[in-house]
Amino acid sequence: MTKYVIRGKRQLQGEITISGAKNAAVAIIPAAILVKGVCRIENVPKISDVTKMLEILKEMGAEVRLVNSSCVEIDCTHIRTQTAPQDMARSIRASYYLAGALLGRFHHAKVPPPGGCYFGVRPVDQHFKGFNALGATTDIQNGYMLVDAPNGIRGANIYLDVVSVGATINIMLAATLADGLTVIENVAKEPHIVDVANFLNSMGARISGAGTDVIKVRGVKELAGGTYTIIPDQIEAGTYMVATAATGGEVLIKNVIPKHLECITAKLIEMGVTVEERDDAVLVRRAVPLRKTNVKTMPYPGFPTDMQPQAVVLLCYAQGTSLVTESVWDNRYRYVDELKRMGANIQVDGKVAVIEGIGDLTGAPVKACDLRAGAAMVVAGLAASGVTEVEDISHIERGYEDLVEKLKSVGADITRVEVPDGTALRRAQ
Ligand code: EPZ
Repeated sequence: MTKYVIRGKRQLQGEITISGAKNAAVAIIPAAILVKGVCRIENVPKISDVTKMLEILKEMGAEVRLVNSSCVEIDCTHIRTQTAPQDMARSIRASYYLAGALLGRFHHAKVPPPGGCYFGVRPVDQHFKGFNALGATTDIQNGYMLVDAPNGIRGANIYLDVVSVGATINIMLAATLADGLTVIENVAKEPHIVDVANFLNSMGARISGAGTDVIKVRGVKELAGGTYTIIPDQIEAGTYMVATAATGGEVLIKNVIPKHLECITAKLIEMGVTVEERDDAVLVRRAVPLRKTNVKTMPYPGFPTDMQPQAVVLLCYAQGTSLVTESVWDNRYRYVDELKRMGANIQVDGKVAVIEGIGDLTGAPVKACDLRAGAAMVVAGLAASGVTEVEDISHIERGYEDLVEKLKSVGADITRVEVPDGTALRRAQ
């Protein structure tokens, strides 16, 4: 077992450079299936979800070459199967993008339903609704999603009933090589959706409207190779902004797009944190006690659900009672029991959490229930008194590149410790 051991109450000071966006990378890599030729992708984050996605493509016959630690070349010209390897693909959520990309290029896909973080039912009905409108049949059988369009993919008008990041990207992928125009309405507008559209356009696609409520995809005959640079990770940046605020430090967070962070910046300012925007950086400083506030998660440009656990931790360190409403996922408060082990005073009722700010948390052994919950435990430990041990860190390493090194570089006392099986400090105490 591997865990993080954190000695808290060190103010973070210095500079952190943000890596490429996980949720863009895990869509752009499978999107390369649509391209005949070499896609050179830069600013790729070094995280386990990306490694798995590259392994899946290799297994399916793609040529994958790591140019350096943040650049990869992918050539899917001679991909030899439309079936994604079950064990590998079901361990990551984003494997659903293989369905849209394979459907677009080969009119057939056999892909396991998505895995990844668990926070309630994670349906794919909107993905299927889009595929059906484009002329495909969809089914789930023997642990696979089966998508087939023997007569080809034809452009269509699609109205999403739910604003879904995954469905928006998946339908965009399937429609890129379709015959005719596809109009997708009520789409998600997250920065990584715009990034996937920009990637496809740079390879020859004709997609407009990404970042608005309506995306139009004019089908093209084929895509050719090229070079593309992934945007910085909004949520990684937000996590370090919150960590800086929690510890009362001052950190320049570099390689970001400040516009993408506004939804997070606004809440931090309400809480008494200073955030100065630079061209491609934000300087975060907290010199006064944190104030309570209310947070409601919403699709972009609202406050991101993927920052909700980190925000709850920060509110534990604020003065007064705050309300957090989770309006994207049904069950994203499982980590609250872990925070209570550190002394947090939080009541959860359905989608609402009531957080009584107590000014301080105390170190304890805690688990990373999922990726962002794990990051929140790290933030809690950095600001808490005493020692916090975070277990199940494989969740965190799915989405944060070099977390320990980045935090150490700004003065955190955090180590990654291998514990021989059977000797783990567990929670009998
Ligand atoms: C993406 O998941 C992200 N994952 C998630 O980030 C993020 O929490 C989520 O978007 C919301 O921003 C990736 O990009 C790989 P959705 P996705 O489809 O696409 C409902 C992280 O920590 N829905 O936007 O799976 C669904 O139940 C991860 O990096 C349907 O009803 O999310 C949810 O309530 C965790 N039918 C809402 O829509 C569907 O067919 C939003 O889900 C699809 C979704």
